[in-house]
Amino acid sequence: MASKINLNSEEVGSDCQGSVYKNIQEMWDTELSNKDTGSVINKIGSKDNWYSKQAQYWEKTEATVEGVLGGFGKLHKPDITDSRKLLELLHDKYDLNYGRVIDCGAGMGRITKEFLLHFFKNADVVDQNPKYIEACKQNFKDDKRVVHFIAKGLQELEFPEKYDCIWIQWVCNYLTDEDFVKFLKRCSEALVQNGFIIVKENIAQKGFIVDKEDSSVTRSDKLFLDVFKQADLKVVETQMQSNFPKELFKVKTYALVPAQKKQDEKMMEETEEKTA
Ligand SMILES: C[S@@+](CC[C@H](N)C(=O)[O-])C[C@H]1O[C@@H](n2cnc3c(N)ncnc32)[C@H](O)[C@@H]1O
Repeated sequence: MASKINLNSEEVGSDCQGSVYKNIQEMWDTELSNKDTGSVINKIGSKDNWYSKQAQYWEKTEATVEGVLGGFGKLHKPDITDSRKLLELLHDKYDLNYGRVIDCGAGMGRITKEFLLHFFKNADVVDQNPKYIEACKQNFKDDKRVVHFIAKGLQELEFPEKYDCIWIQWVCNYLTDEDFVKFLKRCSEALVQNGFIIVKENIAQKGFIVDKEDSSVTRSDKLFLDVFKQADLKVVETQMQSNFPKELFKVKTYALVPAQKKQDEKMMEETEEKTA
């Protein structure tokens, strides 16, 4: 049984086989329990099954740009173009330092190679699939700027360093809500002063959609905001992906900082204003 993390949303969701859940907590409670409820087709049955199914799915996929983008290699360029814009904004407006970054759910290192290393001095990569981490090692074998190659699920990742930026793209849909919140809390602790967590993800128009083929859940904007709140994070910037085909999910990027940090900064600013 999934432990509750107090998500408030009552938005209805569904899975790809037509089961409907009255809210996301009901979905986790039903899907991850081993009790026979009879109402759901192909019930997942446990959290272990949830994670092993996605591992099996990615094991079958090629370690190429086309493979990690699900056959949509044409998304690569517009994706990188918009990500660059957001990163530059964070640098110019909030003094994000181009020091160390970690690419979470890195696949074969598409984002690290084509984007993050154009800005940051050092990068680490993490992915649940050892095959992808092996591909990263090959891709970066002559590039000493990539330091840690970590074959681990984000649900159990302990960060080896502190980071200026934690980049999480097209992977948090593989985490249960409970693990997503816990992971984001660990991200918060692994940030240096002025560091940012970036979540770039597909967005459901409303509620959520579970895909049982690869064990993933596409969440609405509202559900993301619920998760961020539970993880004590504050959204400082957002960006909607441009120039993607209309038939695909909308993609949204959130730039996040620990809520407490924002509070501290505000208090410092107010104190400075009073003493000026
Ligand atoms: C859609 S691909 C995206 C790869 C990369 N972020 C990119 O945009 O090029 C999803 C990646 O997430 C990884 N993944 C899936 N579940 C994961 C988990 N629980 N923890 C870490 N990585 C996971 C897969 O192995 C795969 O490499």
